[in-house]
Amino acid sequence: MALRLDYTNMLAPAVAHGVPADAWRTAAAEFTRVQAAVAAQRDSGVLGFLDLPGNTTLRAQSQRFADSRRGNFDEVVVLGIGGSALGPVALRTALRRPYWNLLDARRRGDFPRLHVLDNVDPRTITALLAELDLARTLFIITSKSGGTAETMAQYLIVHDRLQAAGLDRTRHLVFVTDPRQGALRPIAEREGIPALDIPSNVGGRFSVLTPVGMLPAALIGIDIAGLLAGAGAMAERCATPELAKNPAGAYALLQWLADTRAGAHIHVMMPYADALRDFAAWFVQLWAESLGKILPAGGSVGPTPLAALGATDQHSQVQLFMEGPPDKTVTFIGVADREGDLLIPNAYPDVKDLSYLGGKSLGQLLDIERRATAGALAKRGRPNMTMALDRVDAAHIGELIMLLEIATIYAGALYGVDPLNQPGVELGKQFTYAMMGRPGSEAARREWDTLPQPDSRHIIG
Ligand code: PA5
Repeated sequence: MALRLDYTNMLAPAVAHGVPADAWRTAAAEFTRVQAAVAAQRDSGVLGFLDLPGNTTLRAQSQRFADSRRGNFDEVVVLGIGGSALGPVALRTALRRPYWNLLDARRRGDFPRLHVLDNVDPRTITALLAELDLARTLFIITSKSGGTAETMAQYLIVHDRLQAAGLDRTRHLVFVTDPRQGALRPIAEREGIPALDIPSNVGGRFSVLTPVGMLPAALIGIDIAGLLAGAGAMAERCATPELAKNPAGAYALLQWLADTRAGAHIHVMMPYADALRDFAAWFVQLWAESLGKILPAGGSVGPTPLAALGATDQHSQVQLFMEGPPDKTVTFIGVADREGDLLIPNAYPDVKDLSYLGGKSLGQLLDIERRATAGALAKRGRPNMTMALDRVDAAHIGELIMLLEIATIYAGALYGVDPLNQPGVELGKQFTYAMMGRPGSEAARREWDTLPQPDSRHIIG
């Protein structure tokens, strides 16, 4: 069955701090306006991620490359950051068995292990490079812009290591980048390094269903056709202007109304499945970088997304969600069928603190804990909703990805911001270029030099 969204606990007055009843009554009309604005955006060609499920040529690029390298490599290393890293990590965690990277080749079905380097902390990179057999390693250099400092720095180090080891770069490297712009494309053409495309109209955090996510996924044996089929089914469901039938529309409107009408500025994503731990991190980037913006007329908007994991965070953040300021919504993700479910033995029928567990399964316990937490939050007036999956498989993950990507575009229209850009990170980049001495960054250097210098009166130690 397809993904289900239950938002009963989002609505006031039943849930005291929920979305006000009058706001929800008029939401359907508001959504008609939003859907029309998004349809116009789609027609203008900027929402390329919506076309990915039907782009069989792009899917074939990833699958063909993966099939052609099968058996040649034990390790695949993605170099990338932001949208170029969070998607592959989320897919690996969701769709490979836990600890899969630790299994030997035979038990991995001869698929390589997948590592994702999403930072330039030398400790991590040095340690990984020291352990890799470069002759059995494929590096995927992923950058939409083809110029991100962190990814380029990693690439230069890897380039040097391959050269020092006398290894053929055209065999050990593949680029995933924009078809035209950036530094990687011309290098690929000049040096004969294979390069897969991120369509020009798909930005970093919307790119998981391009070769950014599909290539590493295909290389480690994930069913990418299933992912795209699930995403396509969700895109179809979300084409309706009828709010009551559109899960992405309902999600976006409820979150927006909770933020702007009920003071719930923090949006928690809390799956009850280890497989979805990194999916929550992927969502955090999508929601934060897309919606945290200065309005064209001035003033700032943007909900703060937060990742949590059930049941683990019941012993950590849930106290805050229950009794801290009522400024949050919580979205639970529940899973009905759990792979490898375990029956809890009834070893101590006479010990009441243990005996009630006996005879139930771990999956049952996890699911009951999710429902109990949702109910407890509702009882305290804290709005929450639940996305229910039958199981964690490629089709359901594809559905979730597409739902949240579309919801982000709707939310952009509701907040009145462009969800596809990220101008706020530009100044920090310019200052970095200035301090690193990149040619053309002289103006940024001058601006940097006008900033307050460290003041010894305000430094301790
Ligand atoms: O969503 C985005 O656009 C960003 O988070 C990018 O993914 C990130 O900055 C990396 O950019 P690039 O893929 O161009 O190297």
